[in-house]
Amino acid sequence: MKTKNKNPWGGRFDAAPAELLQQLSCSVHFDRRLYAQDIRGSVAHARMLKSIGVLSASELKAIEDGLKQIQALIESGKFRWKDELEDVHMNIEAALTKITPAGAKLHTGRSRNDQVATDMRLWMKDEIDALVQLIGALQTALISFAEREREILIPGYTHLQRAQPVYLAHHLLAYVEMLERDKGRMLDARQRADVLPLGSGALAGSTLPLDRDFVAKELDFKKVSSNSLDAVSDRDFIAEFLFAGALLGVHLSRLAEDFILWASAEFRFVEIGDQYTTGSSLMPQKKNPDVAELVRGKSGRLNANLVSLLTLLKGLPMTYNRDLQEDKEPMFDTADTLRISLQVFAGMVQETRAIAESCQKAVSDPLLMATDIADRLVEEGIPFRQAHEIVGKGVALAQKRQIPLSDLKLADWQEINPQVTVECLNVFQPEEALKLRKMKGAPNLKLIQKEVSRWKRVLKSD
Ligand code: ARG
Repeated sequence: MKTKNKNPWGGRFDAAPAELLQQLSCSVHFDRRLYAQDIRGSVAHARMLKSIGVLSASELKAIEDGLKQIQALIESGKFRWKDELEDVHMNIEAALTKITPAGAKLHTGRSRNDQVATDMRLWMKDEIDALVQLIGALQTALISFAEREREILIPGYTHLQRAQPVYLAHHLLAYVEMLERDKGRMLDARQRADVLPLGSGALAGSTLPLDRDFVAKELDFKKVSSNSLDAVSDRDFIAEFLFAGALLGVHLSRLAEDFILWASAEFRFVEIGDQYTTGSSLMPQKKNPDVAELVRGKSGRLNANLVSLLTLLKGLPMTYNRDLQEDKEPMFDTADTLRISLQVFAGMVQETRAIAESCQKAVSDPLLMATDIADRLVEEGIPFRQAHEIVGKGVALAQKRQIPLSDLKLADWQEINPQVTVECLNVFQPEEALKLRKMKGAPNLKLIQKEVSRWKRVLKSD
């Protein structure tokens, strides 16, 4: 009989694992982040083992005390993580077994396959709760900005060409809508994560009478998984989280782009505070919107994390495969990237002011009211297509004469079409034009104010 076996995988092995295998296999440098969830899961599992008579009361106490001790060591930075023990689960279990012989009973009826799936689901539920709060904080910052600058009009754009006037507040509230959907998608992913895999064993449950409902209650899971094979290999909840995160990142990148444009000399709609801009090492005059650029850039890795996991999962045979260890880094990275992006963006929005004169200048472009003239012509009984043609000709005439559209005389218009009246041309006040837009969802000042109040109530109750 061999007395010395340096292989952590027990009696079956004669030789220790190759150094390079250990390097490839080791995940403890990143999955140690799951230590609190791993310990919570172990405590629940141990309590259940006691309830079915596998552990005595004193063994349970020794395990709980030992795990508490380990948690304290980890949190004070004194725990010695060992690469040769591969992952967070083996590290904690080995440390526990050194503290108490009862530790050797903890893994009864459990596999790292159902253990790691449980840890990640616990982690994700907490993470989503935190992210939803941060999304709410960004929404609140956008709403305060909208309120602060409620009278500011800017051109609304399509194709990045000036189209029609809108309130800056309306533009900002569009992002509040997007972010609300992002919260919904996150919470939706959370529901799917709220299912307990523990008790599925390596893949086929256990011959021991494990009480899964007991564990679900201890860990605050809404449901218990219904198929052990699915439970150990399902990573849908991570894919959903990564998708919700990628789309949130896309939304942030669009918001970032708007701020970058607005802060440019070409627009000058906003001034971003010094705290959230950077200078140039060479050009002394520069004030760069790096926060927005970095957040825009980070949407790249958020998309990549989703693609990385989907690629990982594609074609995996049932059930657990070691490939799945690669699921964690994209998950952590998306969470970390979103946390910093959301927080810094909220800070930047709070320190951003609209530049009233440049917004006013941009929105006073009379061409923005061309559609409103067409609407007035429709009210005179002219079919819209014809009205569109008439106004188009007016625009061409003004351009030929190199004058603003508002400088065309009634006589000029009537030469194009005699049905044009003086009332049709009384449209060049954007504030007045926006008052006429009364339908739900339109950029009318009163409606926007109602929306602001509605959002404040919604966000308060969240
Ligand atoms: N570190 C592993 C992972 O994250 C834990 C599960 C390992 N299971 C196994 N049978 N090798 O996937």
